[in-house]
Amino acid sequence: SQPEPCTVVIFGATGDLTHRKLVPALYNLAVDGELPTGVKIIGFARREKSDAEFRTGLEELNRKVSRSGHDDKIWAPFAENIHYHTSEFTDADGYKRLAERLDAIDRERGGKGNRLFYIASAPEFFDDILISLKNAGLNQAAEGCWARVIVEKPFGTDLATAKHLNQVVNETFHESDTYRIDHYLGKETAQNIMVLRFANSIFEPLWNSRFISHVQITCAENLGMEGGRGGYYDKAGALRDMVQNHLLQLLSLVAMEPPTDLSADGVRDEKVKVIRSLRQWDTPEKVAANVIRAQYLAGHIDGTPVPGYREEDRVDPESMTEAYIALRLKIDTWRWSGVPFYIRMGKRLPKKTTEISVHFKDAPCVLFNALPGGVPGGNVLVIRIQPDEGISLRMVSKLPGTSLRLEPVKMDFHYATSFGKGSPEAYERLLLDCMAGDATLFARRDEVEEAWKFIDNIENAWHKSTTPPPMATFTAGSWGPKEADNLLQEDGFSWRRL
Ligand code: BG6
Repeated sequence: SQPEPCTVVIFGATGDLTHRKLVPALYNLAVDGELPTGVKIIGFARREKSDAEFRTGLEELNRKVSRSGHDDKIWAPFAENIHYHTSEFTDADGYKRLAERLDAIDRERGGKGNRLFYIASAPEFFDDILISLKNAGLNQAAEGCWARVIVEKPFGTDLATAKHLNQVVNETFHESDTYRIDHYLGKETAQNIMVLRFANSIFEPLWNSRFISHVQITCAENLGMEGGRGGYYDKAGALRDMVQNHLLQLLSLVAMEPPTDLSADGVRDEKVKVIRSLRQWDTPEKVAANVIRAQYLAGHIDGTPVPGYREEDRVDPESMTEAYIALRLKIDTWRWSGVPFYIRMGKRLPKKTTEISVHFKDAPCVLFNALPGGVPGGNVLVIRIQPDEGISLRMVSKLPGTSLRLEPVKMDFHYATSFGKGSPEAYERLLLDCMAGDATLFARRDEVEEAWKFIDNIENAWHKSTTPPPMATFTAGSWGPKEADNLLQEDGFSWRRL
């Protein structure tokens, strides 16, 4: 179905996400002519502000971050549809005024009262906002219209809080109108994983424990705790901030069985099975053996000195929060029996890059073993999620010349050169999907809860046991602690050099 005109109400409109991601995404949809006509945006937040002030602030950021640049001719009419609504998140009167405003907009638009509530406030207000929407009757749509809600991360901080939030959401909106956003699912290359696997007949027959030795997922960032992020991050940590959501979602796309169809539930039914099949690291011993947590020490990024994690702004000097994590995962299914999956994620690594690499078992090397230099590694399929989106396949080839020598070579596909145009930002796709009523790329209730179950076991071992596994360290700007290297070496592997 097609995206439909609607009013987008953004809660937490003065925040970073609204300025850096949401409004630029809507603007770029307008640039590409993909934004349905008649879309209005209302920013809902506590601070007093006029429409003009709100628009000026948004414009400033859009100029900086918009992927297609900033064109006044497109911005001006786009910005006319942006308004600001001042209210406390719990003030019933504020929601009543909002309802009146929405009705007025609907009348102006002439009919269709579709509403998209985007909850991007600080997480402690999620409940209040949902309940207030319900009390104001805004969770109900008029005949023939819809009212949908997008809930930002973090979706809870553990299983209990996620369950509670799910309950509040489900008491307010129907599950089919609930969109739990995970922007990694909106990344072009993440969407391509299913296509790569299920539209190419050469990969899927090999996609199992008979042919794959192991899989690595790396998500490296060079940023630290800039811009006051330490306050949030020190309470979350890498496991909750990135693994519970983004990285387990990527994992489920790589490891899922083929869905029976492309419907939202068809796909999510298969993804959740992967998360449910994760072997649980549910004792301090298992966590110590399979999970490495670490903090960075002062070091250099691109030649610039940077502080250690515990010296960062708004981070507890005695913090026991991980800014790096490496895990060995086991998926207990028929397909993946015996195949380890490794995930690593860290702040202050040498560069920003996310990739998935699928390492195939070596060919029987009887023929070439005796050659000088032997056989240089085997086949690796790399899915580059970002930047330089693309896919490469590593093969072994004969080195040209009169003698027989083997060398690895790479077959490489870059989105930028193959398609000649940049990919839309994840938020563009996801906002459009929500306007079209397609929840395929959003997390379902059970996925979120199964993921938390797995995460909680590890958090408990770290923070609630009497024998907590240690915190490793590494120098900022290096590729993580040696303990994480050992994790793979124990199995005869090593992290891909990036
Ligand atoms: C967010 C995390 O969800 O994703 C951040 O809270 C992280 O810590 C960010 O930096 C990474 O997103 P992207 O799209 O830049 O890879």
